Amino acid sequence: MSLRFVEAFQSPGAQSGRRLIAVECASSGIGARAAIEFARHGCKLSLGGRNKDNLEIVRSKCHEVLPSSFEILTSVGDITKDTDRKSLVERTVETFGQIDVLINNAGRGAGHTSELFSQVEAETLDVMFSINVFSHVLVTKLAIPHLIKTKGCVVNISSVWSTVPAVGAGVCCMTKASVDMFTKVLAAEMAQYGVRVNSINPGSVPTNLTRGRNGPTTTSPGDEPDISELNQKYSEYSLPMHPLGRLGSVYDVSHALLFLSSENSSFITGQHLYVDGGRSLRGEYLAYV
Ligand SMILES: NC(=O)c1ccc[n+]([C@@H]2O[C@H](COP(=O)([O-])OP(=O)(O)OC[C@H]3O[C@@H](n4cnc5c(N)ncnc54)[C@H](OP(=O)(O)O)[C@@H]3O)[C@@H](O)[C@H]2O)c1
Repeated sequence: MSLRFVEAFQSPGAQSGRRLIAVECASSGIGARAAIEFARHGCKLSLGGRNKDNLEIVRSKCHEVLPSSFEILTSVGDITKDTDRKSLVERTVETFGQIDVLINNAGRGAGHTSELFSQVEAETLDVMFSINVFSHVLVTKLAIPHLIKTKGCVVNISSVWSTVPAVGAGVCCMTKASVDMFTKVLAAEMAQYGVRVNSINPGSVPTNLTRGRNGPTTTSPGDEPDISELNQKYSEYSLPMHPLGRLGSVYDVSHALLFLSSENSSFITGQHLYVDGGRSLRGEYLAYV
């Protein structure tokens, strides 16, 4: 991270040490790295996820870099379940008394839905919309009263697939297009309260989410996987699709999250920030099946 970036994040108004960041799913990939980067900037953290062991690893990595001795709250639960969503928000407010930033990160990707619409199963639609869309809408609903109090912000993790059609991953594309529209409408609804809402739309970022289709990327949560582990298909297809000539990293997305969560982006709302190495510029569809 460059010094210039660190200074920008810590400029007056950023108030990083006082901000409470709730990362809906922080036990792996983008959410795990983001949690550690927020900790490095002195933020208080409430971290959700299903995998208890991985959440504990992330918590201890956060403590290693945290400049102060804040508590880091972890909530083990399934974000598609009403009780677990309530528990995440209620425990956060009970512990810290506030929510400044909500990061809606839970998600499944294109690799989970390799189906053409001519073959799509109702269950695929149910599962994908439940995780990628409904969970974000419903956890945000619970957080809204607290975000209004702090004039806080929401950052939704969308995808380049919200605007680039991927044949064979159409359900995923539909869910991420929904996340983008959720972002815009919520931003318009919340602007009167000073609450900002934006999305980050990543290109290909090697994480556990991309592992199934693209090769083994298992790694300790928060760490960047070894790109050389990725299988040939991924390197031959995904890499050339990114004009900047590399795949994204969990750090790339974390840096954008830090910006959109800080006062340095205080005049930005309802926007989609593509962190995709130019992938969306190509606009070509991909046949996943
Ligand atoms: N990686 C990419 O190339 C890419 C590209 C575009 C967009 N994205 C988006 O980025 C976000 C993060 O993905 P990632 O790449 O970091 O994947 P990841 O490493 O697989 O992480 C996904 C996270 O979501 C959590 N999660 C999934 N379903 C959940 C549920 N029902 N309840 C609670 N937690 C749940 C997982 O928790 P557990 O591990 O505890 O189950 C994990 O923390 C997703 O929204 C994804 O669509 C990723």
